[in-house]
Amino acid sequence: MDIRKGDTIALTVERVVYGGRGLAHLNNMAIFVDKAVPGDRVIARVVRVKKNFAESRVLEVTEASPYRTTAPCPYSDYCGGCNWQFIEYEKQLAYKQTFVEDSLNHIGKATDFQIHHVLPSPQIFGYRNKMEFSFSDKRWFLPEERDKKRDDRDFALGLHIPGTFDKIIDIEGCLLQKEKGNEILREVRRYAKDSGVPVYGLRSHQGFWRYLMIRHSFAFNEWMVNVVTSEERDPPVQGLASVLKDGFREIASLVNNINTTRGGTAVGERERVLAGERNIRDRIGAFTFEISANSFFQTNSPLSHRLYQAVRDFASLTGKEIVVDLYCGIGTVSIYVAGQASRIIGMDISNSAIANARRNCELNGTDNCEFLCGDVGMLLPQITIHVDLLVADPPRTGMHRKVIEQILRLLPDRIIYISCNPATLARDIALLKERYRVEEVQPIDLFPHTYHIESISRLERI
Ligand SMILES: C[S@@+](CC[C@H](N)C(=O)[O-])C[C@H]1O[C@@H](n2cnc3c(N)ncnc32)[C@H](O)[C@@H]1O
Repeated sequence: MDIRKGDTIALTVERVVYGGRGLAHLNNMAIFVDKAVPGDRVIARVVRVKKNFAESRVLEVTEASPYRTTAPCPYSDYCGGCNWQFIEYEKQLAYKQTFVEDSLNHIGKATDFQIHHVLPSPQIFGYRNKMEFSFSDKRWFLPEERDKKRDDRDFALGLHIPGTFDKIIDIEGCLLQKEKGNEILREVRRYAKDSGVPVYGLRSHQGFWRYLMIRHSFAFNEWMVNVVTSEERDPPVQGLASVLKDGFREIASLVNNINTTRGGTAVGERERVLAGERNIRDRIGAFTFEISANSFFQTNSPLSHRLYQAVRDFASLTGKEIVVDLYCGIGTVSIYVAGQASRIIGMDISNSAIANARRNCELNGTDNCEFLCGDVGMLLPQITIHVDLLVADPPRTGMHRKVIEQILRLLPDRIIYISCNPATLARDIALLKERYRVEEVQPIDLFPHTYHIESISRLERI
């Protein structure tokens, strides 16, 4: 029997795949099932049919998997922020461990490496130190809100609905951040809504309010608020700043990024300090870091120090080594291992991150690190000395092929690859495999309730 779009079918979910969906089979065809847990028996509707697979949505769970649990968040069925709250945490960890192992085996063609048990997050709610909310003139309504006559269709501040680029679910709070962050979110919504100044439309490219980024320093209990607007206009942002300053003494940094481009990013071309400092401070282990609004900082504060510890353990430095730290951000890895190395060269494309990295060396009394700002692919050819250890912590897309070629020219003795995407990690490892063997991998769950998983891999030159 052929499977066709619109068919209603009964399925038993066998496993989950990277990307978070369940996988079942019918008539020898692989069928992906949205919002499903292994062990679920479901009635699903087929929404897409391709040559070798189909995609489906659950209409009814006829027999629930024992690994299902109740999601505490009222938005979790719809919101794209996190979509695994309905899976028991222990099982989330097991599935993620498999993602890393399977990707390395099947895509990376790596065998005989040691994979440690995934490090769990000590907090599975309220663990994120940074949230980014979008304004939109296309509010997406919860089912129970839909039939009411509403005059607020053109205002939302919240998170994206998966599969849409302009529809935003207007949220009162997110369980992944601390409650104070939710109070700030609600105050900004109230102010922006009452301001009479329109929100930015992702289709029309008209309007003022674009994004709200909230960052929290767990170590110092300081908050940063970054409001991103489409132009520089004093009265609305100064009004917001004064409301926030009065209401939240914990806000140490209040900035306004101005992004006049059509691109969907919260990074502005210009940044103005509205109140307090340009940066906030946080700690990882014994080290203090200044972080600007546009610089990367690991988001899981209760767990991230374990990542840097694992890097230091895998590095086994003796004090004599030359280390290259690719995608160094604000200098976290460099500074964390600086005491065990002779010289460290960090590289990052972000001006603000490199400025933070240099300042962070001063703050921590580190004097053997130097930082270069630019595209790693352009900067690496400048390195002509022998490199003992190369650390790479690229964005989700992994490393560009020309970066891999440069690494194969440099031939460092050891590579530590920090990755938040097992698929691109495995792709890059496959490209390095003629000269490097994966010895050891430590998965670390920085992102509870999502399918995302961080991992640290140690590769040795063959
Ligand atoms: C996952 S973060 C890692 C940051 C840092 N290692 C840490 O632990 O905080 C990735 C970093 O790569 C930088 N980046 C992205 N593309 C780049 C490129 N082509 N060249 C250099 N840096 C890049 C980003 O600015 C960001 O700081």
